Parts: sequence; structure tokens; C-alpha cells
Amino acid sequence: MEIVNKKNIERYLDNDWILAELKNINAKGSKVYTSDQWLMEDKAKRFIYHRVYRDFSKVSKDFKLLDIGGGLSTFSHSFLSHLAYEIVDTCNHETNQNIGRAVNELEKMTLSRSDWNEFQHSGTYDCVVANDIFPNVDQRVEEFLAKFLPVTKEIRMSLTYYNIPRTYKVKRVDGDEIFYIRPWDGLRLSHALNAFIDRIKNPCLDRLLLNPESVFANGRQVCIVQMKGDL
Ligand SMILES: C[S@@+](CC[C@H](N)C(=O)[O-])C[C@H]1O[C@@H](n2cnc3c(N)ncnc32)[C@H](O)[C@@H]1O
Repeated sequence: MEIVNKKNIERYLDNDWILAELKNINAKGSKVYTSDQWLMEDKAKRFIYHRVYRDFSKVSKDFKLLDIGGGLSTFSHSFLSHLAYEIVDTCNHETNQNIGRAVNELEKMTLSRSDWNEFQHSGTYDCVVANDIFPNVDQRVEEFLAKFLPVTKEIRMSLTYYNIPRTYKVKRVDGDEIFYIRPWDGLRLSHALNAFIDRIKNPCLDRLLLNPESVFANGRQVCIVQMKGDL
């Protein structure tokens, strides 16, 4: 378990291989999707990607990777093209035109456009990744873990929380009500993770309660968690 901080990002920037690759993709005139754009613009996101995905470069072609909320990305498609790469994503950040184009052009990935909770997985996985979806975009962390831990060797997540006051004004999509929602803080997240403590690599839940200087403009904190699955 690792809390993302300024120092480890600076160390990563000594060899910012993701930005170099993104510049190559741009120079070739390939399509840039929203997740590519975020990587280009945000060094903290590149560091997190490096930590979560880097060692997949060494795995064999029968390695099965399921990416929950993985987004569409020409960079990921090229970096992970040697393995069996499956994405489950509702594609909230892409137009239908872009989604159609990705399905045609990014032929080495399998996309299920679905809520992960509705998704019917077939078989088992070597790793399930959830990068930047829980618990900020989707608060169902415990349900996600209960669904996927039994069918994978490992789960890797980057988890966003706020140890500063923050409120989202949100509108129900199936009603008129407007809610003011508090995103999770470190205490709430540590309670959720505590139920899985025996599976977490190098746990340090007490550090979730601290509020070091944020590396993001919106003040968020991010921790990266690796968990052992049942397989
Ligand atoms: C903040 S983005 C992160 C995307 C990508 N992992 C990245 O780091 O660039 C969250 C992603 O989760 C997807 N998403 C949100 N709710 C989802 C759900 N219930 N099931 C599947 N995907 C979902 C969104 O469409 C979006 O692509």
C-alpha cells in the first residue's frame, strides 16, 4: 500500500517513459482518447499508471487482465497489447462516435460497455485493476471486492479520498432531487479496507487519516493498494 506523494512523483519524473510514449502516439497522429489526455496533462496520473501497470510489460501473452473503469486509451492499448486485456467501462467520458472508433481500431482489447456490477465475467483473471474509480466515482468498494476477489489472483486499485471538506452537488439521473454528497475521507476508506486487511500488501491504514500536501489541484489524496485474490 502506498500513498501518492510529491517525492515519489519527482523520482518517477527522472524517467517519464509514459509521457515519452504519449508524445510518440501524438506524433504518429493516432487517436487521443480522454484517458490519454488525462495522462498527458497530469504527472501524478502518470506516476500512478506507472505503479499500477508497469510490471505488466513482463507478463506472457496468456496473462488475463481485467480493467474496471479502465477508460479508452491508445496508450494502454499499445502498452498492454501483448496480453489478454479486457475493459469494463460505462464510457461516461467518451462520445458514441469515439467508442465506435475505439472498438474498431483498438482491436486487441475487449470492451464491455457496462456497469461492472452488471458485468458477467467469464472465467478467471490473473489481475483485476481499478484505477481511479473507487470510492470517488463509485462508492461500492466492498461490493467490488466481494465480486472479483474470488475470481482473480490479485486486485490492484488506486483509491481517491479527501481529508479536506468537500461537497459534490449532484442530480439524480432517475429523479429530480439534488443531493449534496460528501466524498469519502481517509477514515471511511480505512474502515472499508480493514475488512480485507489480511489480503493487503504492506498495509498502512493509519496513514489514510493524514493529510499530506496534495499532488492534485483539487486537494485529493490517492493510495495504491494491492490485494491477494482467492486464486
Ligand atoms: C476517473 S475515470 C478513470 C479512467 C481510467 N481508469 C483512468 O485512470 O484514466 C473513471 C472511469 O470509470 C468509468 N465508470 C464509472 N462508473 C462505472 C461503473 N459503474 N462501471 C464501469 N465503469 C464505470 C467511467 O466511465 C470512467 O471511464
